[in-house]
Amino acid sequence: MRIGVLGTGGMAAALGGAWARAGHEVFIGGRDAAAAEALAERIGAAGHGTPAQAAGYGEEVVLLAVPAGVAPTLAREHAGALAGRTVVDCTNPLAPGPGGVMLTTGAGESVAGLIGAAAPGAHVVKAFNLAHASMWHHPAGAFGPVPPAVPFCADAPGAAGHVTELITGMGWSPMPAGGLDRAAYLEATAAFVIGVWWAGGSPALAFPEAPGNV
Ligand SMILES: NC(=O)c1ccc[n+]([C@@H]2O[C@H](COP(=O)([O-])OP(=O)(O)OC[C@H]3O[C@@H](n4cnc5c(N)ncnc54)[C@H](OP(=O)(O)O)[C@@H]3O)[C@@H](O)[C@H]2O)c1
Repeated sequence: MRIGVLGTGGMAAALGGAWARAGHEVFIGGRDAAAAEALAERIGAAGHGTPAQAAGYGEEVVLLAVPAGVAPTLAREHAGALAGRTVVDCTNPLAPGPGGVMLTTGAGESVAGLIGAAAPGAHVVKAFNLAHASMWHHPAGAFGPVPPAVPFCADAPGAAGHVTELITGMGWSPMPAGGLDRAAYLEATAAFVIGVWWAGGSPALAFPEAPGNV
């Protein structure tokens, strides 16, 4: 697939790198031209340029790997290019609060929903927001015989298909988690999980499987 990546930070490197290794054509778009060039070279991307060029390049998929507060604005700026494309939103709208990690969106619309409203023709998918960026650098099979899962929320079947292909190509397991109206649950889950991590706990221990089920 032709994939445009907006951003040059940790998630752009992790997901863009994994997708390039899986054989996809990845284009890195950054507002800092030198950072986009350096990342593209590091991960073996097909090209690099501006965010607008990345949005235009991603004929099948565009990844928004930017801060959650920026993603809807970028989506609005590039709404024309994003129309008809699968737009992957990996963002987490989080900020430290007095009692722990909090959602900056509160009880309001999810970031994925805000992106959809900002770019009405785009097929938004919420995905890849739960695992830390470092996880995508591990080779397929590194986690044992049962691959870890990537929950995702999508409305459009074609967009769900693109993300399913990306996840399986990385050696992970797709976990459909409903439509985009459930994306707020994935964002809230990130707040819970990251809050537990920051407090020194292991959130995976809260979801045991009965022996023999895994
Ligand atoms: N890191 C993780 O483990 C992880 C895991 C899951 C989800 N996420 C989510 O994924 C998203 C990206 O995280 P990250 O770790 O990759 O962040 P990051 O390393 O801080 O990178 C953010 C990128 O966004 C760019 N950016 C910021 N404002 C921009 C704007 N107005 N226009 C264009 N580009 C802009 C930055 O460009 P400059 O360098 O020019 O500032 C940078 O390339 C966040 O929403 C985060 O919550 C992160």
